[in-house]
Amino acid sequence: MKIDVLTIFPDFFDRVFDFGIIRRAKLAGIVDISVHDLRGFATDKHRMVDDRPFGGGDGMVLKPEPIFAAIENLIGASDRDRYPPKTRVALLSPQGRPLKQRIVREFADDSDHIVLICGRYEGVDERVNEALVTDEISIGDYVLSGGEPAAVVLVDSIVRLLPDALGSETSAVYDSFSNGLLDCPHYTRPAEFRGMKVPDVLLNGNHAEIEKWRHEKALEKTRTIRGDLLTGENGEM
Ligand code: ADE
Repeated sequence: MKIDVLTIFPDFFDRVFDFGIIRRAKLAGIVDISVHDLRGFATDKHRMVDDRPFGGGDGMVLKPEPIFAAIENLIGASDRDRYPPKTRVALLSPQGRPLKQRIVREFADDSDHIVLICGRYEGVDERVNEALVTDEISIGDYVLSGGEPAAVVLVDSIVRLLPDALGSETSAVYDSFSNGLLDCPHYTRPAEFRGMKVPDVLLNGNHAEIEKWRHEKALEKTRTIRGDLLTGENGEM
């Protein structure tokens, strides 16, 4: 999979993809991640990437020309109806669809090439959305100063689901949300720490009992912390 990130702050991403599973996936050739400075696609002599909003108001809006030029360069088309198959252009913004594991799974399963556009909180010219963006994504109901942290979240959550990214010792099947529940509690040695004991059931080697306990704990935790996942109010699980 190829992932391109478009941003006005390329330095923000200096080392963020150089750790753990993402680093391993890059080294194994499972994913190829490139970060591009939007300013490099600006055409005017001042290399302007933003401008004041028509109609007045605070802040600056990202201009369409550099974003269209970048997408044309990276994808070979600047019309989403003409993108090659399995190509997605995601705009990270608070106005987007709330990110869920189901959406991450769609990205991981159905894309070869993903371009992420990091918006600014003031906004992005709407023509970018109209012509280029296939998915507008929000990582939650709060406002970041830009889409950069959200792009990191999206890349991380997608890459760990790519075939072979997790290695044989782990599996995404048991992740929180994959089965509609939060994950159960986990323990490691020592069996007793500062008077706090690991539940006996985990020490007795009875795998059927352990699975039953894990499922019960996952349900209990989900009911207490995220009841919306059980009642369907969340609309996603
Ligand atoms: N940019 C600003 N806030 C954001 C959010 N919540 N999700 C994605 N991108 C954003």
